[in-house]
Amino acid sequence: QMDDADLIVLNTCHIREKAAEKVYSELGRVRQIQERRRQRGADATIVVAGCVAQAEGDEILRRAPIVNIVIGPQNFHRLPDYVSDAERQKQRIVDTDFPVEDKFASLPQRSGKRLTAFLTVQEGCDKFCAFCVVPYTRGGEYCRPAAEIITEAEALVAEGAREITLLGQNVNAYHDEGASLAGLIERLAQIDGLERIRYTTSHPNDMSDDLINAHRDIDRLMPYLHLPFQAGSDRILQAMNRKHTAADYLRLIDKIRAARPDIALSTDIIVGFPGESDADFEASMEMVRKVGYAQAFSFKYSPRPGTPAADLEEQVEEAVRNERLQALQALLREQQLEFNQGLVGRTLPILVEKPGRLPGQVVGRSPYLQPVHIMADADLIGSVVEAKIVAATRNSLTGEISLTGDTKMVKERRNDRRTA
Ligand code: 5AD
Ligand code: SF4
Repeated sequence: QMDDADLIVLNTCHIREKAAEKVYSELGRVRQIQERRRQRGADATIVVAGCVAQAEGDEILRRAPIVNIVIGPQNFHRLPDYVSDAERQKQRIVDTDFPVEDKFASLPQRSGKRLTAFLTVQEGCDKFCAFCVVPYTRGGEYCRPAAEIITEAEALVAEGAREITLLGQNVNAYHDEGASLAGLIERLAQIDGLERIRYTTSHPNDMSDDLINAHRDIDRLMPYLHLPFQAGSDRILQAMNRKHTAADYLRLIDKIRAARPDIALSTDIIVGFPGESDADFEASMEMVRKVGYAQAFSFKYSPRPGTPAADLEEQVEEAVRNERLQALQALLREQQLEFNQGLVGRTLPILVEKPGRLPGQVVGRSPYLQPVHIMADADLIGSVVEAKIVAATRNSLTGEISLTGDTKMVKERRNDRRTA
C-alpha cells in the first residue's frame, strides 16, 4: 500500500502521449497520501524518476511542492544518497545531469534467479528522428564495455538465466573497440548454459551484414527481430528524418529472410505524423502487407515537446489518427493470428518458464516469443523441450510433448547441469 510507504518513487516514461500531465495528476494522488501520513506524524520521501523527470527538471518542484527529489534516468545510481540527504537535511534535489562516471558499475547487480533476464548494453541515441524525445531525454549514444557485459551475463546465467535479452534504444548500433553487436552476441553465445539470446530495439540503418549473418550462424540467437519502420511513405520517412526509404527497408527484410528464412518480424509504426495523407497512410498499410509481421506495435503520433515535428503546422486531426490506428491494428491482429496458426503442426523448442494456470500445465516461450501452454510436469521448468504445436490463438500457442527420447534427454542434461 502506498499509504504505508516511507519512500514513493514515480518512475516515468516520456516517449508518447501526455506523459508529464499524467505524472502531475498522479502526484495529486500522492499528495493526498502524504497528507494522510502527515496526520499520523509520518512523512514520506517523494521521488519523480525517469524521462519525465529528465525533461521537466525544476518545473516539477515548482508545480508539485510535495516532491523531494527529481532524478533523471542517467542518475538512478545516486538515488540512495539523495534519499538520505533529503531525509536528513530536508532539502529538495534535482539531478538531470549526464554524469561522467559509469552508472552501471555503481548499480547493484540485479538478481532474482529469473530464467529470462534483460541486460542493458547501450543507452541513448544519435538518430534524432523528428518525432522522438529519446536523444534529448537519454542523451547521445553510449555503449557499455563488452567485458563488463560479458561478466554480467555470466553472473546472470550462474544465477539461473537461460535467456538474455540485450537492451538498447538503438541496440544494433552497439560497438566497443571494434566489436559490433554481432561480435558481442558471438561471445555471449559461448557462455555455457545460456540457451537463448535476443536483442531489442534496432534501427534499419544499423542492421549490418555481420548481424544479419549472426542470425544465420548462431543457433542461440533467436529467430526474432524487432525492426521499426515507422512509416511506409518516403515523403513521411524523410520528414521523420529516418534516413531510409520504404524500398531500403524492404530490401533489408529480403536480405534478413535470405539469411534466416523462418525469422519472425516485429515493428513499430506511427500513424498520423504531421502531413500524413490518406495515401501516405495507405503506404504504411502496404508495407505491413508486404512484410507480414508476427507482432507489431502501432502508435498514434503525439507531439513531444522540444522535438522538431511538434512544431510542424499540418498536425493530423485526432479523429483521423484514431481511424487510421484502428485500421492498422485490425490488419496487424490478422497477421499475428496468421503467423501463429502457421506454426500449428510444427515442433518447436520451448523454454519452459513457469507453472500454468491449470494444474499439470506449464508455460514456456517459443523462439518466436509467443507463450506456449503445455501439459507437463513442473520439473521441466528451466529446460528447453521440443513441443509439437497443436493449437494457436492470436496471443498464444498450445504445445504437446511426449515424455520419451528427446525430452528425457533434455531432462537428464539439465539434471547434469544442476549437479555439475
Ligand atoms: N508519437 C508516437 N509514437 C512515438 N514513438 C516515439 N515517439 C513517438 C511520438 N512522438 C514510438 C516509435 C518508437 C516507439 C518506441 O515509440 O514508433 O519506435
Ligand atoms: Fe528515437 Fe529510435 Fe529514432 Fe533514436 S532511432 S530518435 S530512439 S525513434
